[in-house]
Amino acid sequence: MKVGILTGGGDCPGLNPAIRGVVYRGLDFGFEFVGIQEGWRGLVQGNYEPLTLDSVEEIIYQGGTILGSSRTNPFKKQEDLDAVLGNIKSAGFDAIVACGGEDTLGVAAKLYSQHGVPTVGVPKTMDNDLNDTDFTFGFDTAAGVGMEALDRLRDTARSHRRVMVLEVMGRHAGWVALYTGLAGGADWITLPEQPLDLEAMAAHLNAIKARGKKYALIVASEGTEVPSESGEKVVDSFGHVQLGERRVGEFLADEIEKRTGWETRSAVVGHVHRGGSPTLFDRVLGMRVGVKAAELVQEKQFGQMAALVGTQVKGVDIVKATATLKVVPPALLDLMRVSFK
Ligand code: F6P
Repeated sequence: MKVGILTGGGDCPGLNPAIRGVVYRGLDFGFEFVGIQEGWRGLVQGNYEPLTLDSVEEIIYQGGTILGSSRTNPFKKQEDLDAVLGNIKSAGFDAIVACGGEDTLGVAAKLYSQHGVPTVGVPKTMDNDLNDTDFTFGFDTAAGVGMEALDRLRDTARSHRRVMVLEVMGRHAGWVALYTGLAGGADWITLPEQPLDLEAMAAHLNAIKARGKKYALIVASEGTEVPSESGEKVVDSFGHVQLGERRVGEFLADEIEKRTGWETRSAVVGHVHRGGSPTLFDRVLGMRVGVKAAELVQEKQFGQMAALVGTQVKGVDIVKATATLKVVPPALLDLMRVSFK
């Protein structure tokens, strides 16, 4: 079989181990691999490179993706969709393995369900917001970067008797903020899953100051709903609101100073989350879902993605998995509240 592999959407550590996993297992089945460059854009433009044992052997510890990535949505323009379908035919692909989050896998789901393209998904996202998989690789590394940043902010916050606000990524789900805040011992966490309660946050900060605490740490998810400055929303090619029009961390720092009189500074992790070598967890998970994706191709289980369910890696329906976002559930929001004392 001739199998094309692509990586789409925001990159994250673990993509290279996943690509390696697909190729390693596929070689057992005698597959020939082609690296489609820069996500779905590579299929629109017919931009490929051969992918061999040599090309993937060394990449286990490397962040990013050797295939490149983009946020191209071929369903936006009919001519792009026609190009993708034509190129799949002319290149002679028997299967496409798409590594991505809800957008990239949403395209794989539609190509399969609406056009019969034999696709298999490999779930990745630092946001951890894909349904029907317990974790996605990229999340552990990215949230670990957040935790380390918070540890560093603790030192400077303590020295200067300040409040430090750390803004983290995560888009419209609060997983990165929650895990960063829990692991780093934050005094307050704001998430998209909960309406922002500035009064409660200020009251809590005043209470911890009154009991003698000399500094405080706040973790703010970039997707926390804050009042918009311009009222305008910019959307990307998948229709998602572009975050960052107003920096949540800066907004919170201003509000905290106004409401408590406590000197406050803010910092943003941003794309630093996404670089660097994948953690042990992300390397092994990447490898496992990659291996499973090759097995799904061999079994012709198209329209499936390789998901972590408990401790097992299984094929799950890609259309169902991409229908809604996986957000932080109420039980974990309760745990978060327990951690504010
Ligand atoms: O989806 C991953 C992610 O890192 C989000 O957490 C973030 O909002 C977004 O990508 C940033 O996208 P870009 O790399 O296009 O700026």
